[in-house]
Amino acid sequence: LRIAVLLSGGGTNLQALIDRMNDGSLKARIVCVGSDRADAYGLERARMAGIPTFVVDYARHMTSEPTPALDEALVGQVLGRQRILSPGVSPEEARARIQRLIGAERELMAQLDAHQPDIICLAGFMRLLTPHFLDHYNTSGAFRVVNIHPALLPAFPGRHGYRDTFRYGCKWGGVTVHFVDEGEDSGPVIAQGVYPIFDEDDERTVQNRGLHLEYKIYAQVINWIADGRVRVEPGPGSRPRVRI
Ligand code: GRF
Repeated sequence: LRIAVLLSGGGTNLQALIDRMNDGSLKARIVCVGSDRADAYGLERARMAGIPTFVVDYARHMTSEPTPALDEALVGQVLGRQRILSPGVSPEEARARIQRLIGAERELMAQLDAHQPDIICLAGFMRLLTPHFLDHYNTSGAFRVVNIHPALLPAFPGRHGYRDTFRYGCKWGGVTVHFVDEGEDSGPVIAQGVYPIFDEDDERTVQNRGLHLEYKIYAQVINWIADGRVRVEPGPGSRPRVRI
């Protein structure tokens, strides 16, 4: 299985995958590591492991003029499908934002496709992927983009899973590996794990405990995918459901 990893930060999940790739327990090869920021330490980890890296400068895309001559229909379609892109902003701003995102994603897709990944693993990638990106990879009903989230979804979506879990006073925290769809942390769940939270814990100890679970569960899911064990079927209601 050829996997691409996208990240924005320190990349300890990437490191855990690299370690397992090197000790032979990961049934996949990391073919490239990409980031939206050049200073992500995860890129350094990839370089040290001899894995090709690339950067798509989202900050530049998002502050420069929107890509001109973009297919109007495409922009409209993305805008219609992805409402979370435009909370409280004017329709013009939302359109411009999507045009910029699509510009960045075109570059991202070209970089990824050069390495022909079977699946794309998000590991702390802090950018929203639009339907324009997802449609390119999720072809013929298959999901090919996977994310790891630091909470027991659907509890605590968003950027601060550990903080939110801790502050809520949960006695158990969790991590979720899921396929990525158009919503925020809303795609079909592949696997989840839980860990206890003790009275003497602080946010840091909670995060550390959760991260160690992330490393195990992400590798496990990738191995399941490599073995062809992960199937997505229609579930009750209209929600797709994963079966292992
Ligand atoms: C992890 O907690 C992951 O669940 C979340 O972002 C964090 C990335 O950490 N999506 P790292 O960069 O792998 O250390």
